[in-house]
Amino acid sequence: MVRNSLNVRERGKGKANGNGVPLVLVHGFPFDSSMWEKQLDGLGDEMWVVAPDMPGMGQSEPFELHREASMNDYADAIADWAGSRGIEKIMLAGHSMGGYIAFAFARRHPEMLAKLILVATRPGADNEAGKEGRYKMAAGVEEKGAVVAADAMLPKLFAPATYEDHKELVESVRGLILRQEKRGVIDSLHAMAGRPDSSPDMARIKVPTLIVSGAQDAIIPATEADNMHRGIDGSRHVVVQDGGHLLMLEDARAFNKAIREFA
Ligand code: MLT
Repeated sequence: MVRNSLNVRERGKGKANGNGVPLVLVHGFPFDSSMWEKQLDGLGDEMWVVAPDMPGMGQSEPFELHREASMNDYADAIADWAGSRGIEKIMLAGHSMGGYIAFAFARRHPEMLAKLILVATRPGADNEAGKEGRYKMAAGVEEKGAVVAADAMLPKLFAPATYEDHKELVESVRGLILRQEKRGVIDSLHAMAGRPDSSPDMARIKVPTLIVSGAQDAIIPATEADNMHRGIDGSRHVVVQDGGHLLMLEDARAFNKAIREFA
């Protein structure tokens, strides 16, 4: 077992959420829990919301591994954190890489999953070219730091209008990426490169599931959300029209509404 104590941002503790089930918001790559500030602020008065920093990102310690990190390690870190707090079930929301972690969590800790929210993510694994790109980026980060990830990702993270109308948001996300330590960024890249295809798991997901996608996402094509909606029995799909890959920041009002109506 990989033990890690996670740094978390937390609001609304004590709010019922259907018998004390927290909404756990898992960030994507290469971010940290501050991605969810608008959800902590916007939903924290109504429900118990927890946003952890994944190991090696934000203020959480990196894994102590003598091998490459995997999605299972991140999923187990969340389960260990919940266990250490005496939390039996969570409503798990994963954004992009956080969604890859959520699929691993659903496989490994199904008894802990009350509801699932898949945000701008996909079930499939990387193809060979994709894996090669991850290792190339990891080598670049090792040499030059998180700036390599910031330069590669930033042009794809937002809807076109966000770059024009909300330059301060774009700059603040750049700053967030630049603050990340190399180790955490590299571990995430290795875990994404090695992740399995979670498509066969979709039919086994029996908890209520919400899929949220950005109509202008330049990283995850719209077809991925349609595919998950078809593959997960009884799932609900909400499209945020003005959202790109970082829809929870670009249109927090629409995003939070979707969560509120589902939770
Ligand atoms: C993320 O936002 O987590 C990443 O874009 C996911 C990926 O690169 O596959």
